[in-house]
Amino acid sequence: VTLTENDQPELKLEQELEQDAICLADIERIAAEKLPPEVWDFVSGASGAELTLAANRAAFDAVRIVPRVLRDVSQCSPASTLLGHPVSMPVATAPVAYQTLFHPDGELAAARAAKEAGIPFTVGMLSGYSIEAVAEVGARTWLQLYWLRDRDRTVELIRRAEDAGYSALMLTVDVPWMGRRLRDIRNRFMLPAAVRAANFPDPEKGSEAHRPAPGNSSVAAHTALAFDPSLSWTDIDWLRAQTSLPLIIKGILDPRDAVRVAETGADAVVVSNHGGRQLDGAIPSIDALEAVCQAVSGRCEVLLDSGIRSGVDVLKALALGADGVLLGRPLMWGLAAAGEAGARRVLTLLAAETQDALGLAGCDTITAARELRTIAPAHTQRS
Ligand SMILES: Cc1cc2nc3c(=O)[nH]c(=O)nc-3n(C[C@H](O)[C@H](O)[C@H](O)COP(=O)(O)O)c2cc1C
Repeated sequence: VTLTENDQPELKLEQELEQDAICLADIERIAAEKLPPEVWDFVSGASGAELTLAANRAAFDAVRIVPRVLRDVSQCSPASTLLGHPVSMPVATAPVAYQTLFHPDGELAAARAAKEAGIPFTVGMLSGYSIEAVAEVGARTWLQLYWLRDRDRTVELIRRAEDAGYSALMLTVDVPWMGRRLRDIRNRFMLPAAVRAANFPDPEKGSEAHRPAPGNSSVAAHTALAFDPSLSWTDIDWLRAQTSLPLIIKGILDPRDAVRVAETGADAVVVSNHGGRQLDGAIPSIDALEAVCQAVSGRCEVLLDSGIRSGVDVLKALALGADGVLLGRPLMWGLAAAGEAGARRVLTLLAAETQDALGLAGCDTITAARELRTIAPAHTQRS
């Protein structure tokens, strides 16, 4: 029996994506058409007037690279290592909560795409599939933690992650509570019944995130109850003592904080403003990067997120000193556009673009990319 294209919708989708989506912005457009407006607002929105969200892109665009030439790029490769393990490119996925909002296969589809791409997948504490279910996909997995009022629950999740073979923990430190995301507040955003925090006890019962919160987003109301804003440096020491898994601290912008993170014995920092979703008015993470790298001076790895939209952005982060980057919203666009095939397309494009950018900058390796010069963003005219 010969199957027609219509009998294989997945294949058809994949072929369409290959033709129609040749950069991540193309996939963003498809996602915007497919998602319900309030879910689109949840993923693409940020806090306040969304100034930091916009500044993230403006700052990336303002960075200029000084390419090298005559250096034989015929064998050029974006392969590297993150936390000491080989990766096909210096990229991991950023933790994004509730990925079943974007496609029913959620984290499973995204993790499969990451596995195929040869990069680590970060599972959010608030994932739509349990950390064990995601581990079964077989990708290299990192678990992101928020600081919960219920510390026993955090410890239990850490033990589960150890048992399930997770290879790092990533503590997010820029969310004492959620930033005021005006789109979500206006939409009275609530999780649909089918979207659950699968790692929590009785996920079927739902949470405040599923019930109306007068004058607020229900997701924000839920986190206000669950997250502990008293998180401080002594807690990082406590966490470090709980586990021998490598520890990544996410949400650092000030070099003084980065130095303290390195002093706790953490393995990596993520320079991040949470994609503009926390303090509106925070500096773009790409503008914070160089000072952080100089301050930690190799004592731990430095990763960056908030605004990565292309291989050239990856190259810019490397040139400014990062060891790697986290990819946030674009992977969700891929999920929304076509589930696993869409997520795969996002990562295939990013890998191809990163290779292209490396070679055109005269770099055969990531090490060479980290020696490139840039024009300092502060010296660049910005509107
Ligand atoms: C819909 C959405 C959910 C997110 N959920 C989490 C989360 O659960 N934990 C976390 O540390 N960061 C979370 N983030 C922030 C991302 O990890 C990352 O810092 C951010 O998306 C980077 O910005 P960019 O996507 O614009 O590049 C989320 C971001 C989005 C867009």
